[in-house]
Amino acid sequence: MKSIPVAGNNSSLILNLHSILRPLDFMEKYNKQYGDFYRFIEKKNLSINITSNPQAIREILTMDSDVFDSGKANKSLSFLLGDNSLILLDGKDHKSRRRLLMPYFHGKFLEQCSQKIISITNQVSDRLEVNQPFAVRPLMQEITLKVMLNLVFGIDSEQQCQRLSNLLVELLEIFNSPFKSLLIFFPILQKDWGKYSPWGNFLSLKAEIKKLIYQKIKERQKLLIKEKSKCQDIFGLLILAKDENGAGMTDEEVHDELITLLFAGHETTASALSWLFYWIHYHSEIEDKLRLETSLLGNVSDYQTINNLSYLNALIFETLRIYPVVVGSFARIPNQDTYIMGYKINKNDYLSISIYNLHHREDLYPNSKQFKPERFLETTYSPYEYLPFGGGNRRCLGSALALLEMKLVTVTILKRFKLVLTNNHSLYPVRRGITLSPPASFRMTVKNCVLGKNS
Ligand code: HEM
Repeated sequence: MKSIPVAGNNSSLILNLHSILRPLDFMEKYNKQYGDFYRFIEKKNLSINITSNPQAIREILTMDSDVFDSGKANKSLSFLLGDNSLILLDGKDHKSRRRLLMPYFHGKFLEQCSQKIISITNQVSDRLEVNQPFAVRPLMQEITLKVMLNLVFGIDSEQQCQRLSNLLVELLEIFNSPFKSLLIFFPILQKDWGKYSPWGNFLSLKAEIKKLIYQKIKERQKLLIKEKSKCQDIFGLLILAKDENGAGMTDEEVHDELITLLFAGHETTASALSWLFYWIHYHSEIEDKLRLETSLLGNVSDYQTINNLSYLNALIFETLRIYPVVVGSFARIPNQDTYIMGYKINKNDYLSISIYNLHHREDLYPNSKQFKPERFLETTYSPYEYLPFGGGNRRCLGSALALLEMKLVTVTILKRFKLVLTNNHSLYPVRRGITLSPPASFRMTVKNCVLGKNS
């Protein structure tokens, strides 16, 4: 029987620190040494298996989804998302929650968001001044958080949600650097030494957010009793949802799902957008090609036209390939002994896809470190060769929204401003909580306003 090469012992502190503080370097090292399928020993008879082999990925993602649990592998996120988050659910509960939410992230619901995304982008970018450098990630985060709040709480959310929005940003800033992210991975550091300690601060912000959301739930429940049809947003949908026995969701379940969507839906897209702006301006010929493509748009800003811009599409795909914001899929835990490429994966072992290693396979992406959007114009990659949003039954719920946002924000900002990188150094991803993002120091400068403000 073939066996997967052992790359190390997962209880090693050095190994863990390496994977948290220098994740890309970590993945490159083990991939180079052990190939595209290797494992770490967690404890006797329990392994963490990691693959970036397209054949293995195909087998994992097309296998009957009932064979794998993922929710229980994500338990370490319950401190942030709560136990009832979609990300922590498995089996029947996971399936029915996905079925409930899915329509809000596709088709006509997304189409309806387009104008709102454009107007939020205009409103946030109004404060950009000519010759003034600005920090890119916070600007993108403000846009993506406003979009998510709008999608979740509805159109009249802006003033009402300002406090909530500030608290969410403040809370995420606690994990905004590689060292501060250690708090997530080492429960031993999660000690409440008062409001001025990182964990104490986290708990106090989390409690305040919870109180605000519970208050909103109560208000909305009252409103829904009065006006039964007013359910134009995810908040209303969750409050009115019933399972097959006719039981509704508890306030705690509604709270956990809202928090999940707000966090998962804006951090990731903000980082992806920041990278996109970096790459567009890092190579002047890329900006020229993109401007040529978007100039043909005139004033058109409709969903279909922007969605079909092929060069912009390729640029976004390459951005998500070279530095994926989420470098590995959720772990899949088989609930029975399973075989992948003839390798035995024991019941309860962890099985994860290294998205970063997959996206840097030289057989799929020659000169993989080179940013080259044309790859995606010349080649169509299968869902087992390219997966910035994961795949199978855990595929990112918000992938279509994220792609649409990236397109609309880019076209809207480029139409208004000519931007330049404040500093031409190459950027390298840094850890920010469980995702990777451009460094906080990443800045751009407005060279001139193409259309002027408020246009
Ligand atoms: C560029 C932006 C984004 C990236 C790169 C990204 C990436 C991912 C990845 C890799 C996964 C795990 C998939 C797997 O293990 O197979 C995931 C799951 C998820 N994402 Fe995203 N995501 C992004 C934006 C969003 C947005 C806008 C939302 C909004 C709702 C969202 C909500 C979720 C949820 C709820 C899950 C869990 C799905 C489940 O467990 O069934 N994500 N995302």
